[in-house]
Amino acid sequence: MPSDFITVAHIDDLPPGRCTSIETDDCGIALFNLEGRIYALDNMCPHAGGPLGEGTIEGEHVSCPWHDWKFHIPTGVCQKNPTPSLNVPCYEVRVIEGAIQIARPSQSS
Ligand code: FES
Repeated sequence: MPSDFITVAHIDDLPPGRCTSIETDDCGIALFNLEGRIYALDNMCPHAGGPLGEGTIEGEHVSCPWHDWKFHIPTGVCQKNPTPSLNVPCYEVRVIEGAIQIARPSQSS
């Protein structure tokens, strides 16, 4: 089933080693550029709602700016307590002619 992608940023606004928070109509997205690879996680930290897109990147991990919990950026796995309920949802990402696009969550009800 094809995904529905939406443009959330331009690659020029997210240099390598940087992250940012994006608000869409559906949800908040944390975008990361790890050496040219773009990743998108849900922006809301499962601990207390901190904005992960405003965190600090350390290798392949981001530290939440509120209480320093760490998450693996490519998978969303919580490093402090890696149980499924504390992992962060990941979004499929593609870059088309410089436009960073994420797959819209398919919840049509
Ligand atoms: S809100 Fe993210 S670590 Fe507490």
